[in-house]
Amino acid sequence: MTKILFVCLGNICRSPLAEAIFKHQIALLGKQNLFIVDSCGTSNYHIGSPPDSRTIANAKKNGVKINHEARQFCKEDFNNFDLIFAMDNSNLRNIKSLADKPEHLKKVSLLRIYNDGESNTEVPDPYYGNESHFQEVFDILDFSIKNLLEKKFNLSPTVAK
Ligand code: 4NP
Repeated sequence: MTKILFVCLGNICRSPLAEAIFKHQIALLGKQNLFIVDSCGTSNYHIGSPPDSRTIANAKKNGVKINHEARQFCKEDFNNFDLIFAMDNSNLRNIKSLADKPEHLKKVSLLRIYNDGESNTEVPDPYYGNESHFQEVFDILDFSIKNLLEKKFNLSPTVAK
């Protein structure tokens, strides 16, 4: 069982969508039992809120179910999760600043290092954007998570079942 945590700033746009897409993809592979998946934010801005209505609409458009209540990242998350994926460098710095032990730091990385070979390793913040920005975030998360499942866990549609 691998415990995975996705982290952004508000936990209402990027990281709850990353959580939803990851759950969607492992369900398609029939591998739900191998993972525990959650998301949170580095800020306290939206604690207790559902995902942003634009994120919910975009997920629905792309056939992905999303259901999450925002919470803030806490030090205990370093003990409760095996892998912690930040959406951008600011999230990464904020998470790392809370780590007390080298083994905690080792758990943290950017999700978009699992990219399609581009140099950009950040998932852009769509909060002040429009639907095209939300769709860009969806596409980035979708391919990054596919690559993560394939490269780190050797799980891809061709090796499913
Ligand atoms: P997220 O997007 O970090 O992807 O959830 C944001 C949500 C809220 C704010 C910023 C980014 N905010 O400033 O309230």
